[in-house]
Amino acid sequence: MIARHDLPVRVIARSELSPTCFRLELVTGEPVSAAPGQFGMLTCGDGLDPLLRRAFSLAGVRPHENGAIVEMLIKEVGRGTGLLHHLPLGAALRLLAPLGNGFTLADGSGDRLALVAGGIGLPPVLFAAEQLAARNVAFDLYLGAASSAELLEVGRCRSAVEVVGGELVLATDDGSRGEAGFVTAAVERRLAAGRRYLRALACGPTPMLAALARLGATRGLEVELSLEEPMACGVGVCLGCVVELEDGRFVPTCKEGPVFAASRLAARWRA
Ligand SMILES: Cc1cc2nc3c(=O)[nH]c(=O)nc-3n(C[C@H](O)[C@H](O)[C@H](O)COP(=O)(O)OP(=O)(O)OC[C@H]3O[C@@H](n4cnc5c(N)ncnc54)[C@H](O)[C@@H]3O)c2cc1C
Ligand code: FES
Repeated sequence: MIARHDLPVRVIARSELSPTCFRLELVTGEPVSAAPGQFGMLTCGDGLDPLLRRAFSLAGVRPHENGAIVEMLIKEVGRGTGLLHHLPLGAALRLLAPLGNGFTLADGSGDRLALVAGGIGLPPVLFAAEQLAARNVAFDLYLGAASSAELLEVGRCRSAVEVVGGELVLATDDGSRGEAGFVTAAVERRLAAGRRYLRALACGPTPMLAALARLGATRGLEVELSLEEPMACGVGVCLGCVVELEDGRFVPTCKEGPVFAASRLAARWRA
């Protein structure tokens, strides 16, 4: 397990990805080692409003001088993300990271993985895709969104997939780009046509994750889901993020997750 740190960070780059989403790059003087699926709790400014940090998946981590650059992809949905969207370059923040567990990337069997992202669920999936590409582990990447404008980082996804000779499948609910309909239907079509995967790794809206959990249960496909339950502390103290498991226990997503095997979650996830 990689130790977490409360890192002083500075905003060194920000770019727009869609009408509501942006990329934030944070530099720290300390080295950071993190796995795809892990997340951080980020302050949203230097004041006390908002008081609580916000949780964001790590979209990438790379060494920089003696420290690291941590990347996040963020959707503006409220006060905290709105403040982050408009911070000046150089703004000082604090990031508690890395937190939680990560995806199970490969077991050396050589079978392909299916990576599935819906909307702003892309960050941990993109981190996984780029790490798998660097290790030359085969995968297909399914990227879904409500519309073409909300499909994020298509070029980077394509580059990562091409390294391993996989397929990039785009899907939009309104059919404005790629296959029309839900991204999980695109996965289902390929499974029905005989494609086999070692495991599917996914992050996205809860209905998408539940659909994939059902698909995995029906087709005998192992599925790992990164859950994004609202979080206050991120370290297992407030119990604000609990999720019910198949054995009836309630566990904090931030400590035991955010990545869970779909088969471990309460049966209603697969109903
Ligand atoms: C482990 C984890 C990883 C996450 N990774 C990302 C990421 O990579 N990129 C990203 O943009 N967001 C991510 N989120 C969601 C992000 O934490 C929230 O969008 C953020 O806290 C909202 O803060 P706010 O102050 O802007 O909105 P608030 O004013 O606090 O809330 C605005 C609206 O967003 C809703 N909301 C708040 N938190 C969540 C949540 N966790 N899921 C769904 N709706 C929520 C609220 O109910 C409200 O309707 C992640 C959440 C978790 C728990
Ligand atoms: S966010 Fe506090 S216990 Fe998970």
